[in-house]
Amino acid sequence: MKFGGTSVSTRTRWDTIAEIAASHCANGKRVLIVVSALSGVTDLLKRLGETRDDFAQARQLRDTLVARHHALFDEMGLPKRNAIDAWMARLDQLLEDPRHSEARLSWQAELLALGELCSSTLGARYLNESRLDTLWLDARDFLRAEALPNQSEWGQWLSASVRFGHAPEIAAGLASRGDVFITQGFIARKDASDTAVLGRGGSDTSAAYFGALLNAEAVEIWTDVPGMFSANPRQVPDARLLVRLDYAEAQEIATTGAKVLHPRCIHPVRDARVPICIRDTNRPELPGTEIGWEARDPVPSVKAISSRKGLTLVSMETISMWQQVGFLADVFEAFKRHGLSVDLIGSAETNVTVSLDPSDNLLDSDVLARLCADLERCCRVKVIAPCAAITLVGRGMRSMLHRLSAVLAEFGALDVHLISQSSNNLNLTFVVDEGVVDALIPRLHALLIQADVMRVTDSRVFGTSWSELAQVQTTRRQPAWWRGQRERLLELAQEASPRYVYSLDQVRAQAQALKAIPAVDRWHYALKANPHAQILKAVHAEGFAFECVSWNEIAAVRNAIPDLQAERILFTPNFAPREEYRAALHAGVLVTLDALHPITEWGEDFAGRDIFLRVDLGVGRGHHDKVRTGGAQSKFGVALDEIAAFREHARRHGARIIGLHAHLGSGILDAAHWRSVHVQLASLAEQFNRIGILDIGGGLGVPSRPRDEPLDLVALASALAEVKQAYPQFQLWMEPGRFLVAEAGVLLARVTQTKRKGEVRYVGIDAGMNSLIRPALYEAWHEIVNLSRLGQVADELVQVVGPICETGDVLGGNRRLPVCREGDVILIAEAGAYGAVMASRYNLREPASEFCL
Ligand code: LLP
Repeated sequence: MKFGGTSVSTRTRWDTIAEIAASHCANGKRVLIVVSALSGVTDLLKRLGETRDDFAQARQLRDTLVARHHALFDEMGLPKRNAIDAWMARLDQLLEDPRHSEARLSWQAELLALGELCSSTLGARYLNESRLDTLWLDARDFLRAEALPNQSEWGQWLSASVRFGHAPEIAAGLASRGDVFITQGFIARKDASDTAVLGRGGSDTSAAYFGALLNAEAVEIWTDVPGMFSANPRQVPDARLLVRLDYAEAQEIATTGAKVLHPRCIHPVRDARVPICIRDTNRPELPGTEIGWEARDPVPSVKAISSRKGLTLVSMETISMWQQVGFLADVFEAFKRHGLSVDLIGSAETNVTVSLDPSDNLLDSDVLARLCADLERCCRVKVIAPCAAITLVGRGMRSMLHRLSAVLAEFGALDVHLISQSSNNLNLTFVVDEGVVDALIPRLHALLIQADVMRVTDSRVFGTSWSELAQVQTTRRQPAWWRGQRERLLELAQEASPRYVYSLDQVRAQAQALKAIPAVDRWHYALKANPHAQILKAVHAEGFAFECVSWNEIAAVRNAIPDLQAERILFTPNFAPREEYRAALHAGVLVTLDALHPITEWGEDFAGRDIFLRVDLGVGRGHHDKVRTGGAQSKFGVALDEIAAFREHARRHGARIIGLHAHLGSGILDAAHWRSVHVQLASLAEQFNRIGILDIGGGLGVPSRPRDEPLDLVALASALAEVKQAYPQFQLWMEPGRFLVAEAGVLLARVTQTKRKGEVRYVGIDAGMNSLIRPALYEAWHEIVNLSRLGQVADELVQVVGPICETGDVLGGNRRLPVCREGDVILIAEAGAYGAVMASRYNLREPASEFCL
C-alpha cells in the first residue's frame, strides 16, 4: 500500500492508514506500507539542495523542516523525539558536508531521501503506539538503482531506475519477521552504499517495484482521488470512473495525460502480473480503479480521452529524404545528442514531424536553439508551439474508425498539425493548438458516449461520474464517530448481538450545536426518539427540558432525573385517555391539547390551568408520508377554522391558553421550514390575549443518504432570529428528538447466513425489522457497512436482510459490501433515533439490546 504526501501529513490520516492496514491483517494478509515525504517536504529539501554557500537560507530552510516534523510528532502525541531527531542530526551533518557547496548529485540524492526516511520513521512510531506492530525497513536494502543505456549522470542519481523481479527469499525473510512493515518510497541504493532517488512519481514506482519483488497479491496506490477517469474531471465533470483497465490501457492513459499514476509504475507490476489498484484514502469504500492482466470487456471501445499541453512540434523538411539512406538516423542522432526524447512521429516523403513532451524533456529555449542549429545542417526546421495532444485510448482503435465520424468532424475547423495512430493499436492522437483543448475535450467526450464508442453503460469498466462523486464529497459530513471506534465496537458485538450502541459524546455535541442558536429560549428533547435513561441524563445536563407524549414517557424522565422540576416537562399527547391528562396536570406538567374533545368533554379538568394549544397549519412535512403530521389527512392538531370554538370552550372553563404549538413532521432538512412555522404561529398568537410562548416543534432532520445536505444550523439560526426580531414579545421553544440521537446510535449485528438465489445475493444478519423497523415502515435508508471488513472494497451487490418471517424484513436493499462471511459484524448507522424504542418481539425474537459508550 502506498500513501502519498497529504496522506501522511496529519494524525487523522495516519489513523486511516492504521485502519486500512489493520483491516487487511484481519483478513490474514501481510502489509507493506510505502510512504512519501510529508507534503511540501521534498520541495523544501530541493530548495535546501540549491542553497550552496547561502548558509543563512540553508539554516532557515533546515529550521522549517525540523519544525514541520516536530509539529506532526507532537500532534501524534508520541512520547520521545529521539527517533526523528536522529534524522535531523543527519540533515545537519549533510549541511556541513563539503559536497554541499558543490551541490554534488550524490549529496542531493541523500538530502532528498531524508523526507521519506523521516515520514516512515514517524509513521512506524505512531502505528506501533496504535497497537499495530509495525517493522520499519530501509528501502535501500531492497531496491538497487541501475543505470539505463544512455542515461545521464543526473538521471542516474536523481531519476534512477531499479532492477526488479520476484525475490522469493526476500518475501520469505519478511514473512518470518511480522505482518506489517513500513518503508520509504522514492529512494534506492546506488552502488555499495550511496543513495539515489527515483524522480517524479517515485513513490508509486517504489510500491510497484516492491509489488514485483514480493510477488504481492496486489499493489494499492492510496491517493486523494477515486481513481482514473474517462477524461480529466476538471475539464469534463461528467467523466466516468474507470473501475477496470488492463495494464496496456492504463499505461497508455497514464502516458497520454492522466496524472493519477506515473506511467513508470505499470511496467514492474505488469511483468510480475501483480494487479495495481488506485484507491481514495478519504473514501476507502469506493472500488477505485483496478488494473490487471486481462480486460473485462471483450469488445473494442474507447476508455478515455486525454490531453497533454505544452507540447513542442519540430517539423523537418527536406527534398533529399526520399530514398535517402540514413536520413532519419542523422536526424534522431541530433535529438539524442541534446538529451531529448521524441514522443510522436509523423512522416511523409519530404517531411518528418516529431513532438517533444516537456514532462520527459528538460526543454529550455537554449536546448531547442542548439537542436535546431544542428538539424539545419540536413533539413529545413520549423518549431510549432505551444501545442496539445488529444488522445483517444482503448483497445482495438483501428477497428472503431467507422464509428468515430462525429468525433472526427469536430476537427474539421481546426489546424491539426499531426495525427498519430500507435502501432500497438491502443491510441489515436491529434496534435492541435493548445488554446482549443479545454473547450474541445468535453464535446469530444460527449460525442464518444453518444456514438457508443465509449460504452459507459458497461459497469464492468465504467463507474460513477466525477460530478456525482464530487457531490457526495462536498456534502459529506465529518467522518462518523464510529469509524474511530471500530475495535471497541467489534468487542461489544462479540459480547452481545444484535446490539444498539450509543455515543453520549455525540449526543452532547448535537445538543451543544443546537444550544448555540440564540433565538430559541427553551429546548426540549422529544424523548420518543430514544428514552434511554443515560441519554435523558446527558441532555438534561446540557440544559434541555423534555417533551413527552405518554404518561409512561413522563414517568421515564422522572425516574431518570428524580429532581427534575415538573414544569420542565411538556406533555403533548394525541388521542390519550382522560386519566393521562389528569395525572399530568396533577403532577404539575405543562399540557398541550390538540383536539376539541378534551376541552368540550373534560373541560372542568382544565379549570384555572395554563395550557398550550396545538394547531394544524394545514400542511405536513417530513421524510415520509407516515411522519407528516399536518393537513386534513393527519390526526394531529386543531384545524385553523376550529380555533375560535376551542378558545370559547377554554374561556368558559377558565383555562388559559399561554402557548401555541405546531409540529408539521419529522426529518426535515430545509431550515426555511421553521421560519415559516414561526411566522405563522406568531401572527396567529397576536390574535390571542395571553400567549407568551410559541413552540415550533421538532422535526430537525439528519442526512441519511450520502448525497443529502445536512440541515444548515447557521441558516436556521438566522431565520429564527429574523422572525423573533419582528415578534419580540414571544418566547420561542423547540422540541427536537431525532437530531440529538440519530447519528449517535449504531445497530451492530452479526452475519448469520449468506445466500445466492438467481442473480440476487443475500446477507442475513441477526437483527431484523423487530430491532429496526424504519426501513420496512418508511423505506428509510441507513448506511450499512461490514465493520469486520471496514476499508475493504465494497463491490458485491447484496440485500441485507433479517431473520423475521416477512418479505419486508430488509434492512438495506441493493447495498455494496465486501464479500461477507458468517460471523462478520455489520454496522447499521444513524440508528440512535426511533430504533430501539420502536422494536418489538415479533416472531418472539428479542430485539437488539442497548449499550451507552
Ligand atoms: N414534537 C412532536 C409533537 C412530535 O410528534 C415529534 C415526533 C417530535 C416533536 C420530534 O420529532 P423529531 O425531531 O424527532 O423529528 N418514527 C419516525 C418519526 C416519528 C416522529 C413522531 N413525532 C421515524 O423513525 O422517522
